[in-house]
Amino acid sequence: MANKIVVGAQWGDEGKGKITDMLAKTADLVVRYGGGNNAGHTVIVDDLKFELHLIPSGILYEDKMSVLGGGVVIDPEAMVAEMEGLKERGISLDNLYISETAHVIMPYHRLLDGLEEKRKGDSKIGTTGKGIGPCYTDKTSRRGIRIADLLDEKRLKAKLEQALDFHNEVLEKIYGEEKLNAEDIIEEYRPYIEKIKPHVTNTSLLLNKAYAEDKKIFFEGAQGTLLDIDYGTYPFVTSSNPTAGGVCTGTGMGPTTIDDVIGVTKAYLTRVGEGPFPTELDNEWGEFLRDKGHEYGVTTGRPRRCGWLDIPILKHAVRVNGLTEIALTKIDVLTGIEEIKVCTAYKHGDKIVEEFPPYLENEIPYEPVYESWPGWDEDITGCRNYDELPINAQRYIERIEELVGVPAEIISVGPGRKEAIIR
Ligand code: GDP
Ligand code: IMO
Ligand code: MG
Repeated sequence: MANKIVVGAQWGDEGKGKITDMLAKTADLVVRYGGGNNAGHTVIVDDLKFELHLIPSGILYEDKMSVLGGGVVIDPEAMVAEMEGLKERGISLDNLYISETAHVIMPYHRLLDGLEEKRKGDSKIGTTGKGIGPCYTDKTSRRGIRIADLLDEKRLKAKLEQALDFHNEVLEKIYGEEKLNAEDIIEEYRPYIEKIKPHVTNTSLLLNKAYAEDKKIFFEGAQGTLLDIDYGTYPFVTSSNPTAGGVCTGTGMGPTTIDDVIGVTKAYLTRVGEGPFPTELDNEWGEFLRDKGHEYGVTTGRPRRCGWLDIPILKHAVRVNGLTEIALTKIDVLTGIEEIKVCTAYKHGDKIVEEFPPYLENEIPYEPVYESWPGWDEDITGCRNYDELPINAQRYIERIEELVGVPAEIISVGPGRKEAIIR
């Protein structure tokens, strides 16, 4: 029995969906523990492409239980759209479970997300605009509305009125927007609530029972370590804890139930949204990575910023998540690059800094210190054994392992379910 966390080790979009889907074959349950439909996880099975935002990637296996834990924030409209999209493609939703304590994204959260960003002007975060931040804000302000509240219309109305009593003042007085009305929101959400209702349960109880029965549980991370509200590049982060610690609070399972933590990392680095990015390539190599790696957001379609692999970031991810291994993805994208660079430290004034600093944005910049590795030209997407990889690819992988201090047990060489080397 090994319960595993699949966590993003960078700024999201590392290929968590692909790795979760690949490993889910051996799991009984696949669980999302945080984030919402700001996530976009791509899974490719044979010729079929699935883009999941809220529903765990395990849904593609009929016999697995798919669980949305209490740490997830749920937009009912997005949830139902995703459920119906899957159903139309013949995917069963019989084993889908939604936590009664997950918080609900309301229309005012989406509205406020956009308004807050606009007000921030040049210092905007570059959010996905899905209402994630305002929903988590309401959760911690103890003004939030939870899935369980949706199931009792009288309670929902009372809670909505209380929340609107506050939000309408903000909307009207700060942003000059029109007030919202609880009844209109209930009217809008009623058909979604009906479709979600049959899936709602006490997921903490369900998970702990499954654990007691020796079932194998995989926790699918959303976002990534550097988007973590506590350990990311604050304030350019999301509003939850995508790091491994978020699994316990986001599912109601204790830390002793977890065996392995897999950090998913691209063989290079990308970021969507604003914020510092020391190894960003604003040149033809950045474009090469974006074109070859199809680096465009699944959720917003925005072009992803691209750069070289950053080791201080990965060492930070190893520490704050307690990574036991890494899954290195998209190494096939590097094929054809003559000289591959890896940032091993930063130059900060006259100092060399080897560990990830708390503030990357600083008057004295953090400039990457690179080492260079020779590339390869061979197509590696067909490799299924480590020794089939060109020697220069093996050297690159082994150097990363040496620098970060954990083994790369999985090497992904293409987007498909089978395109990987398991060592
Ligand atoms: P996630 O948010 O971490 O699940 O990642 P995304 O789905 O947003 O982005 C990863 C993208 O890379 C998707 O389009 C995947 O299909 C694709 N992908 C995953 N692993 C590989 C790989 O090893 N090679 C290539 N070429 N593409 C991959
Ligand atoms: P997956 O699960 C990449 C980024 C946004 C923005 C910041 C805050 O696909 O890896 P938010 O809407 O969460 O308030 O935006 O976080 N962001 C992601 N970037 N992948 C994601 O998810 C992301 N989820 C949020 O671009 O910079
Ligand atoms: Mg993504």
